Amino acid sequence: MNAIVSVTSDWAIGNQGALLVRNPADMRRFVGLTMGGTVLMGRATFEGLPSGPLKGRRNVVVTSDPSYGLAHGGIEVAHSPSQALSLVERDDPDAVWLIGGARLYRALLGHCTRCHVTRNHTLVPADAYIPDLDADPAWELERVEGGGVTAEGVPFDYATYRNLAL
Ligand SMILES: NC(=O)c1ccc[n+]([C@@H]2O[C@H](COP(=O)([O-])OP(=O)(O)OC[C@H]3O[C@@H](n4cnc5c(N)ncnc54)[C@H](OP(=O)(O)O)[C@@H]3O)[C@@H](O)[C@H]2O)c1
Repeated sequence: MNAIVSVTSDWAIGNQGALLVRNPADMRRFVGLTMGGTVLMGRATFEGLPSGPLKGRRNVVVTSDPSYGLAHGGIEVAHSPSQALSLVERDDPDAVWLIGGARLYRALLGHCTRCHVTRNHTLVPADAYIPDLDADPAWELERVEGGGVTAEGVPFDYATYRNLAL
C-alpha cells in the first residue's frame, strides 16, 4: 500500500473538512496514480468528496457506524483500520492507496511502503496535519519531481518518501 497526500509547508492537510490549496494539476496526478486501484479513506474524507465515491476505483471507507454501508452506495465499509487492511490484502499492494484524512494517515501510514507528498510551499490556517516525514527517521526522502506554480501563485513539487521499516 502507498499513501498519497497534499501538504503545506507545516505538513497541514485540511481545514474545517476542506483541502487547503486549489491545485488542479495535483488533482489530475492523483487521478492518474489511483485510477483502477483501491482507495482507502476515513469517513470524514469520504463525506468531503465532491461527487461521492471516486469513479473507476474500489472505495473502502472506515467508520465506526455499523449501518453506514447500508446508507451509502458504491463503497465498502470497514469498521477499523485493521479491518480495512484485511479487505485489501488480496489486492496488488502497488494499487492500494491510503488517501486520508488525518486520522487514517495516523493509523495506517506505518503500513505504507511509500508516501507520495505534494508539497505546496505556503502556510495557511489549518486544523488537520500529518506527521512531518522529514523529521521521522522511519522515512527517507527518495526523490523530488518538479511540480509548478498554482493559479494562485503557490509553488509546489512532488516528493516521494520511502518507509525504511518495510
Ligand atoms: N491534503 C490531503 O491530501 C487530504 C486528504 C484527505 C483528507 N484531507 C483532509 O483531512 C481532513 C479530515 O481528516 P480527519 O482526521 O478529520 O478524518 P478522516 O481520517 O478522513 O476520517 C475520520 C473518521 O474515520 C473513522 N475512523 C477513523 N479511525 C477509526 C477507527 N480506529 N475505528 C473506526 N472508525 C475510524 C471515523 O468515522 P466515524 O466518525 O463515522 O466513526 C472517524 O470520524 C479534512 O480537512 C480533509 O480535507 C486532506
